[in-house]
Amino acid sequence: MTGSAAVGVLVPAAGLGVRLGAGRPKALRELAGEPLLLHAVRGLRAAPSIGPVVVAAPVGEVGAVRALLADLDVLVVAGGAERQDSVRLALAALPAAVGLVLVHDAARCLTPVAVVEAVVAALRAGADAVVPVLPVADTVKQVEGAQVVATVDRAALRAVQTPQGFRREILEKAHASGTTALSDDAGLVEALGVTVTTVPGADEAFKITRPLDLLLAEALLAMTGPGSRHGAGRHAR
Ligand code: CTP
Ligand code: MG
Repeated sequence: MTGSAAVGVLVPAAGLGVRLGAGRPKALRELAGEPLLLHAVRGLRAAPSIGPVVVAAPVGEVGAVRALLADLDVLVVAGGAERQDSVRLALAALPAAVGLVLVHDAARCLTPVAVVEAVVAALRAGADAVVPVLPVADTVKQVEGAQVVATVDRAALRAVQTPQGFRREILEKAHASGTTALSDDAGLVEALGVTVTTVPGADEAFKITRPLDLLLAEALLAMTGPGSRHGAGRHAR
């Protein structure tokens, strides 16, 4: 039944970007001369499966974001105080016909089309919820204060990226459940007891969080050019 269903995308872009440092909200900070958000939405529009796109813009920047994305056929709503609020507000604006939903951080603005399509393919194959993942490169330790209390088995860990994909009714139920303080949407869905499936993520889908990430993104764009995401990404094994 989900084989040809329309796929919508919610783009939380309303964050302040505190870790990136002073300036405009992160989604409007420039990367190779254009706002991050423009790179992100263009990347989504290059994915053949994607239909309606709803952007949650920083409060006070809704008009500016509408103008910025005028040629890309998106709905723009004002975001909320927490990422979860922004996703909920965008979800409420998604056209009713959309049965499959991706949630994609504006800050992961160089995500390869291949990752978007892999998430959609897993949903269309019947998964309820899908996340792109990468192996964890660093050793991870659990601490209490300054003291190490355990070393976690890295082989069983994955770093999670976006877009995360869901059957719409599951995402709606998760956002209505009242669970708070989780850093991703799949976490809300897991709390409902729904199985979450993984697909391979990509190095290029990293989240621009700190100043060094912006430098890395600039270097990547200088190397590959803005149109390069039509091809397959360099996937993790
Ligand atoms: N986001 C959002 N609404 C919020 C907070 C975050 O839409 N109230 C979005 C951000 O715009 C970003 C994504 O969620 O695209 C991931 O969040 P993060 O990387 O933490 O961005 P910021 O919250 O902007 O950054 P920081 O935490 O450093 O302030
Ligand atoms: Mg944040």
